[in-house]
Amino acid sequence: MTIRMTMPMIGTAQAWRDAARGLINANVAPCDVSWGDETTPAGLWDSLPPPRTDKVLTVPKEFISIARSVVWHSDPSRFALLYRVLWRLRDTPHLLSDRADPELAQLRRMEKNVHRCQHKMKAFVRFRELGSPEDPRRSFAAWFEPSHFTVEPTAPFFARRFGDMDWRIITPSVTASFVDGKIAFSAGQSKPPLPEDASEQLWTTYFRNIFNPARVKVKAMQSEMPKKYWKNMPEAAAIPDLIASAPARVRAMNEAAPTLPPLRVEKVQQQLARLPESVWSGDADALRAEISACTRCPLHCHATQAVHGEGPMDAPLMIVGEQPGDTEDLAGRPFVGPAGKLFDEICAKADVDRSRAYVTNAVKHFKFIPRGKRRIHQQPSTTEIEQCKWWLDAERTAVQPRAIIALGASAAQSLTGNGEGIGKRRGKVHLLDDGTPVVLSFHPSYLLRLRDPVARQEASELLRLDLTRAHQLAQNISV
Ligand code: URA
Repeated sequence: MTIRMTMPMIGTAQAWRDAARGLINANVAPCDVSWGDETTPAGLWDSLPPPRTDKVLTVPKEFISIARSVVWHSDPSRFALLYRVLWRLRDTPHLLSDRADPELAQLRRMEKNVHRCQHKMKAFVRFRELGSPEDPRRSFAAWFEPSHFTVEPTAPFFARRFGDMDWRIITPSVTASFVDGKIAFSAGQSKPPLPEDASEQLWTTYFRNIFNPARVKVKAMQSEMPKKYWKNMPEAAAIPDLIASAPARVRAMNEAAPTLPPLRVEKVQQQLARLPESVWSGDADALRAEISACTRCPLHCHATQAVHGEGPMDAPLMIVGEQPGDTEDLAGRPFVGPAGKLFDEICAKADVDRSRAYVTNAVKHFKFIPRGKRRIHQQPSTTEIEQCKWWLDAERTAVQPRAIIALGASAAQSLTGNGEGIGKRRGKVHLLDDGTPVVLSFHPSYLLRLRDPVARQEASELLRLDLTRAHQLAQNISV
């Protein structure tokens, strides 16, 4: 007899968890369950309530995290797939570390789709004001068409960001409402007639201002802001005109620019010409082009260029720093300035061939304040690190390193989500959701700032040990 499990559109994550726990504790095999959601037509099978259980089921944290995302995917087979993997986990506890397993690979793809959809939702929902701005609590509504059922898991983000107003996000499947500080969900609706408001003009002006005609990469732009979202974004109407006028604006900018570059640029570029070429392979070009065109945060406005990672696209070890420094910003390559030189020395002592690792940064643009002729490094903010995590995640997905070393607090924050200083955490190994170990260590610039030679020597030795450990993890040598 087949048990039919119908998952609700609202509260799906908890419902799937309860149902899966009940079924597995009652020893119901995956082939005896038929999963669907409220949109799935009922079949001819028996419909039974899920077996009830209070028994605790222990599963790896990583699976819980995958399931928490995958339940919101729009593929009707997601619940059955999750249950099959859960069932297999009972006898194969190490299943999650099997990178070749096709069912796991499919789950990970679905997880990535859902994360991407949540990310697009955070970036592209556009609220329109209802009522009057003088009302004690202003109220807004937005229409959005996500590719997956991501309204419920993404609503807490909007509640945090727009906690001082009432809002509704209406989608075809679910509506999220935030009224007087409380989130509630109800059925989806068709597109309501929403009024235009002043913020539309604001979005368009903002977009015109951040649009850099010298960096127009239409393909990269469309991959970052897919066309299907344009119809609900007021600023999108400006895009065709901005693209069409870009060449003329670049010509005008060139004519207005000073004819001689600063002497320092020439000197740095001469030095850099002597550095060996970076190694790239695989799908690197597309990723590099996308990173170069990045305008996700205002840092791109002042930096010379985005500095993407470099190294083999199948490198077993990934090295993540904070952000390009002054020299890297001019060179367009990571870790080629003073901190990079010190890091090269430590690599040599640790017997790590840097050219066989993938070297990148948590933030891809140089953040600085000008002081006279100098550009003084500024630490990136949490928001900038968050914005740029998109690219670090893309690099991780492309390279799939076996181990990562995070140099300094910004890299550690991007990779682990924890922004605490590195002092207490150095030497620890953090496991990412996909099981990749991240060794936390000092940033070489920190060593450069230590005046006391003994302290510098000690810190440099610790960084060497951490690098050795990360290298061994990447080689699958147990440490
Ligand atoms: N510091 C970093 O974190 N990264 C670089 O690329 C250079 C200096």
